[in-house]
Amino acid sequence: MTTASFTLDGKTYELPVVRGTEDEVGVDITKLRSLSGAITLDPGFNSTGACESAITYIDGDQGILRYRGYPIEQLAEKSDFVETSWLLLNGELPTADQLKKFRAQLTYHSMIHEDMKKFFEGYPPNAHPMAILSAMVSSLSTYYPDTEDDSYEVNIVRLIAKVRTIAAYAYKKSIGQPTIYPRNDYSYCANFLNMMFAVPAEEYKVNPVLVRALNMLLILHADHEQNCSTATVRMVASSRANIFASISAGISALWGPLHGGANQAVLEMLEMIHQDGGDYKKWVVKAKDKDDNFRLMGFGHRVYKNFDPRATILRKMSNDVLKELGISDPLLEIACNLEKIALEDPYFVERKLYPNVDFYSGILYRAMGIPTNMFTVMFAIGRLPGWLAHWKELRDGDSSRIYRPRQIYTGARERDYVSIGDRK
Ligand code: CMC
Repeated sequence: MTTASFTLDGKTYELPVVRGTEDEVGVDITKLRSLSGAITLDPGFNSTGACESAITYIDGDQGILRYRGYPIEQLAEKSDFVETSWLLLNGELPTADQLKKFRAQLTYHSMIHEDMKKFFEGYPPNAHPMAILSAMVSSLSTYYPDTEDDSYEVNIVRLIAKVRTIAAYAYKKSIGQPTIYPRNDYSYCANFLNMMFAVPAEEYKVNPVLVRALNMLLILHADHEQNCSTATVRMVASSRANIFASISAGISALWGPLHGGANQAVLEMLEMIHQDGGDYKKWVVKAKDKDDNFRLMGFGHRVYKNFDPRATILRKMSNDVLKELGISDPLLEIACNLEKIALEDPYFVERKLYPNVDFYSGILYRAMGIPTNMFTVMFAIGRLPGWLAHWKELRDGDSSRIYRPRQIYTGARERDYVSIGDRK
């Protein structure tokens, strides 16, 4: 085993070095504090590994993303969301029998308890569906209390099965339409689209082009190692909180515009530029201005510093799907122009800011008829198997201690309490 040396106040400490299967190097600082009294400081966790994980590999410089070793490009082209979910959760591609059983389980568990439908009535019509999703997922714990140690496998299935029902019910509620029950004869994605867009009065035919596009979108979102929401799920799970509470926390973390909420922010930005006359160059200038809060949403990534492989797949898919559906969207043109100009601009080049997964996903969701405020919900449905795989990895791991970072205190030193009459 190699070690790294750490010198502080003239004293040197040897720290073990950990190497991943792709030769990633980490210095194990677990004993640093007990040996030296010092801690490391890394706000935003730029250089901090929170765990060892066997689920997803990313090489941000090369634009590589693999789930359980399989390149994202192959999974997006050849797999579907249910199979990819199984892969993430179990580490291997399923056999035909395993996949059949998993699909049947997802169908069997797709309804939510009838009483839960009443919860939707309590929200105002313009409630953000991410708030509803997070609350509903947390509420599932009241129906499926985490009492037995081995009960979480069925709760994993319940969550993947029910999340699309909850999402579609939230949407139906927001537009004042009756909810549509899940159907046992539909695939995972077809079922979701049917619950979203069917109305009792008329026949709705699920478009296979949309089913394929949705499968791809969900696969591309399914995991991304230690991102903000996944790290949140692991953080909450480390306290031994139940699986529903942990996932609900992940949904809340995903909601922010710097994370999953960026897909909604991108579409709103493109609409704003369109309504403003389409002068995209003006907005690039604004994004570069340090005195202006405006950022080019859908650009930049903490890990990808060359290109985001998911964005590359999505750019092509957006073009193909819009063509197949016969849709011409002016926002796609603005997006392509923004991308072109930003990729040539020294500000973006020097900072290695490239389009990320959210830059094109909104265009596709819009073409599918999904309303803008549901975009982040779509991301959550996609990310769920990843969160669950991490939850499971943490719970099954033998070295899972409660997550408890330290801090460097910068506040006041000890001082005596001053009575109110003596305060200045
Ligand atoms: N537009 C303009 N400038 C930017 C942008 C942007 N979208 N992103 C980063 N910068 C600048 C930033 O101002 C900083 O400049 P300087 O060095 O002069 O101070 C530099 O680039 C580095 O940015 P940072 O904020 O330190 O980078 P980060 O790694 O902390 O943040 C990010 C990454 C994704 C939060 C950020 O790039 C961003 O806010 N992007 C827009 C939101 C977005 O699209 N988020 C979705 C991410 S992909 C989906 C997911 O996995 O969550």
